Amino acid sequence: MNLSGRKIVITGAFGALGSKVAVAVRAAGASVTCIDFSSPDRAPESLRGCVLLGGVDLGIPDAAAAALRAAAKQMGGLDGLVNIAGGFRWEKIQGGGIATWDQLYGVNLRTAVNAVQAALPLVGKEHGRIINVGAAASIKAGAGMGAYAASKAGVAKLTEALADELKDQGVCVNAILPSIIDTPANRADMPDADYARWVQPEQIADLVVFLLSNHSSAITGALIPIVGRV
Ligand SMILES: NC(=O)c1ccc[n+]([C@@H]2O[C@H](COP(=O)([O-])OP(=O)(O)OC[C@H]3O[C@@H](n4cnc5c(N)ncnc54)[C@H](OP(=O)(O)O)[C@@H]3O)[C@@H](O)[C@H]2O)c1
Repeated sequence: MNLSGRKIVITGAFGALGSKVAVAVRAAGASVTCIDFSSPDRAPESLRGCVLLGGVDLGIPDAAAAALRAAAKQMGGLDGLVNIAGGFRWEKIQGGGIATWDQLYGVNLRTAVNAVQAALPLVGKEHGRIINVGAAASIKAGAGMGAYAASKAGVAKLTEALADELKDQGVCVNAILPSIIDTPANRADMPDADYARWVQPEQIADLVVFLLSNHSSAITGALIPIVGRV
């Protein structure tokens, strides 16, 4: 899959999934800007060669706008935005607090909306792509997943509405809904699990590269589960 000449912003790119996606998108030939809340000195070595914009809180609209403008300036344009910034917390509703709902709404949905609204004035129409990372839990939430699933359901509805708004403007908007990703944090939290059943971050990265490519130009408004054998 060839992404030569494409200019792509990836949010949450210093994280477990984001860093693997950034490497794959760059390997396919694109220029990549990585945006993250963490400082640039926490960026993985593998992101060498990408533009690194650390210390950006995408929950703040002005910060998102400044970061997207800086990214487009550095790369000489913008063809795609991949929204991976986000977070997780397992907490039951019974005995839980409203603060968790606010926090996960902020980190998962607000960041995506702000990044999208910052990107739209900049994104090229020829190969325009917006890809949001939601979660399979937004289809069916289990115990302890209410606040997280609700925030990711918001990401799904952002995706559908935006795809409809942009369908005559040459910009495709899709979401990826992973189950459990094989990350160091998940291995630490679930040491007895069978990791082979989980989705590998590289498998999600392959799907992102496809969705950024010309081969996906008829796909928009899709919510694509990628669940491995979970
Ligand atoms: N891991 C899974 O099993 C799983 C399953 C389904 C969906 N997902 C989704 O996939 C995405 C990536 O997950 P992951 O496991 O790779 O998580 P991760 O390693 O924690 O990476 C997420 C990155 O997003 C950054 N971030 C958080 N809030 C931000 C903000 N306000 N502005 C800018 N950057 C921000 C984080 O920075 P800081 O660390 O500095 O806060 C972190 O570098 C998330 O959206 C997650 O909900 C994950």
